[in-house]
Amino acid sequence: MKKILFIIGSLRKASFNREVSELVKNMLKGKAEVTELDYSSVPLINQDIEYPAPQAVAEMRRVVADADGVWIFSPEYNYSYPGHVKNIIDWLSRPVDPACRTAPTVLAGKKFTITGAGGKGATAACRKQLTTLLTALKADVMVEGQTGIALNLEAWTEGRMILTETQKSQLAQQAGRFLNYMEA
Ligand SMILES: Cc1cc2nc3c(=O)[nH]c(=O)nc-3n(C[C@H](O)[C@H](O)[C@H](O)COP(=O)(O)O)c2cc1C
Repeated sequence: MKKILFIIGSLRKASFNREVSELVKNMLKGKAEVTELDYSSVPLINQDIEYPAPQAVAEMRRVVADADGVWIFSPEYNYSYPGHVKNIIDWLSRPVDPACRTAPTVLAGKKFTITGAGGKGATAACRKQLTTLLTALKADVMVEGQTGIALNLEAWTEGRMILTETQKSQLAQQAGRFLNYMEA
């Protein structure tokens, strides 16, 4: 079975993006092995502490390297991705060995797919910028079939997310497409 690493781009306990990821995890049951990246101990990027890599960073690189694919579920913050998502990517974008700056990073060639739940724009700006960033860092982003979710009114007023059948079906299609993408 393919290994998929989930990155949840929200730190909020009641995150809707996390809720979406849980639904997708169920959809992938028996089809892929899903784990979630714990980045709670990853420090803010700082070149003073870059080498040797902090233990949490080394561990994060290990789990990313070990995954066949990475699925990011992210909210949109001010028409972009949250700063903590950028922090993860900044760490992953750096050479593992400072003496060998041309060696591929753990992002190079790694398959990615992106989903986002947010406001009326359905996280389109966030997903577009994330795609551009990851592609520039030589990751292999599945551009087609991303799912953007414009949250229902009750999500904002009562904290209750209700996905439509169309949104659920888009997520299932994205899962199927990503399983195929990882085979290529
Ligand atoms: C700093 C900040 C900026 C935000 N900017 C946007 C935005 O540009 N577009 C959008 O759709 N939602 C925006 N939101 C709202 C979040 O998308 C919304 O709260 C969403 O539920 C957060 O995802 P989560 O439930 O997974 O934490 C913003 C929220 C914060 C905290």
